[in-house]
Amino acid sequence: MGLLDGKVAIITGAGNGIGRAHALLFAQEGARVVVNDLGGGRDGSPNDAASPADVVVREIVAAGGKAVASYDSVATAQGAAGVVARAVSAFGRVDILVNNAGILRDKSFMKMDESMWDTVIAVHLKGSFLCSQAFVKQVMAQKAAAGAGGARIVNTTSVSGMMGNFGQSNYAAAKAGIYGLTRTMSIELQKHRITVNALAPIAKTRMTEDLPMFHEVETMTPRHVAPAALFLASDLCGDRTGHVLAVAGARLYAFKVIETPGKFKDDADSVWTAEQIAEQWDAIVKG
Ligand code: NAI
Repeated sequence: MGLLDGKVAIITGAGNGIGRAHALLFAQEGARVVVNDLGGGRDGSPNDAASPADVVVREIVAAGGKAVASYDSVATAQGAAGVVARAVSAFGRVDILVNNAGILRDKSFMKMDESMWDTVIAVHLKGSFLCSQAFVKQVMAQKAAAGAGGARIVNTTSVSGMMGNFGQSNYAAAKAGIYGLTRTMSIELQKHRITVNALAPIAKTRMTEDLPMFHEVETMTPRHVAPAALFLASDLCGDRTGHVLAVAGARLYAFKVIETPGKFKDDADSVWTAEQIAEQWDAIVKG
């Protein structure tokens, strides 16, 4: 018995790194997997490498699992619809979507140009929006036909988005946007029994292998991240929704936005002045 027996899972950007690890584990747990990846370099530019989606599909099938490849880009509405259509034509339905595809175009803020901004936002943030909308449309159609409903979406955010990171204003904005998207979708889709959570992984992949920490560390791998995605994509997750689960090697933790208790004026009618805010700063922001 696998945790995902009978389920159909779409994993975007599953030809490499973390998405590949998700795909292998999900297939091992009984899911029929759509391995989406358009190929290309770390920055999203085209290269001649053999289709990474095909390679992962072959690995899954060789291990006795079921998978098909999809080569669409998540960054266009047509591509996102194509990913979902691939799942429906191969396996007849969808149950799980992992929005994982991603690229990097790092530059310090004042050197970041518009195309670097647009490309990164398009793949991460717009891609997560478009794929989720196409996926939910299909879940609704299944619900109308069979009356059941229920599905799970796992988005991929980042420490960079939650905390900020030098040289990643485009990427951090996209990943912070994915946090807001996750929270809003989790609220809106609850009534359709669709859980929406996010992962914030740290793992050595082609995206991160140049980071100095990864010259020394070999214990933060995509294999460490995949079980967290499996949990959020399986029925073990129950009705938990709107969470950000972070994974870095053997460490699991969560990101939360906190609201401080704040400070009230004695008289509810009176208005804070800027000088009073300066004076009372510590009391206002303390957690
Ligand atoms: P990776 O570069 O190994 O894999 C990303 C995959 O996405 C690639 O195979 C690429 O071809 C695919 N992709 C890119 N644009 C696409 C598009 N438009 N349509 C379909 N596929 C596309 O990177 P990695 O590290 O596995 O990253 C996976 C996710 O995890 C990304 O969203 C990344 O931002 C996120 N992440 C990774 C961290 C890490 O430490 N590796 C840290 C925080 C977040």
